[in-house]
Amino acid sequence: MNVAVKVESYRHFEARPLSPTIGAELIGFDIARDTSDAAIAEVRRALLDWKVVFFRDQDITRAQHIAFARRFGELEIHPATPKDQDDPEVLRIAHGPKSKGSENNWHSDVTWRAEPSLGSVLRAIELPEVGGDTLFADMYAAYDSLEPAFKTFVEGLVARHDIARVFAKRLGKDTAELHAKYPVQEHPVIRTHPETGRRGIYVNTGFTDSIVGLSKKQSDWVLAELYARAAIPEFQCRFRWRPGSLAFWDNRACQHYAASDYFPLPRIMERVTIKGDRPYFTP
Ligand code: SIN
Repeated sequence: MNVAVKVESYRHFEARPLSPTIGAELIGFDIARDTSDAAIAEVRRALLDWKVVFFRDQDITRAQHIAFARRFGELEIHPATPKDQDDPEVLRIAHGPKSKGSENNWHSDVTWRAEPSLGSVLRAIELPEVGGDTLFADMYAAYDSLEPAFKTFVEGLVARHDIARVFAKRLGKDTAELHAKYPVQEHPVIRTHPETGRRGIYVNTGFTDSIVGLSKKQSDWVLAELYARAAIPEFQCRFRWRPGSLAFWDNRACQHYAASDYFPLPRIMERVTIKGDRPYFTP
């Protein structure tokens, strides 16, 4: 079967798709040099078109990484960042012989916030020779694939998102202490993207706890149906990291999964996360 892939044209780079609907490498874009408003606006357009965009062979510093992300919005500080770190906007995700990769679940970043992230920019610092790929899933395509009656049912639902599911253990804090600072949040199960107007599934295996108004059994069943959509290969792309690679994803339109297949080798990444707005659903 031939799949017609419509690739928009851009002036500052060429977009080379990794799959028909999600993921494109932006060939010819130099993060250190292409800093004009027009260049940044085009990256933003490509992000909306492809949900995740990739950059290769970028010889940039931490400060340039932060400066690039800041062009897309205000940056957030993650509670897992050590208090004394020089650049608090950078979340270091480091694994090796003493820590097996744990980002191997489908999720969108920080959905436990009242205003979860718009996007994340991840930079490779140290990589295993093979393994440690990141997979991305198109949540618009996942939503589009739902049966019409089930789609109508889930469109009216709201889910609880809880930081403690992942970070109680990881930060060594008890749930009550975490909730005092980051209360459980309720977000629509189907989210309208604030820039494209498209609808996507907005529950994830990492942080979503349950659906409001359903019994645990019903909630678990509905969530399992929705989670299963992210795992469908036709909605995914897979990015193989190389030194100098960066990925920039839209947390409002896609989910990601970091393959944890490189243990005990080191894999060190740095993530800068851009603040977003309150999710909503437009009927
Ligand atoms: C993350 O889950 O934000 C990190 C993804 C990765 O390390 O590839």
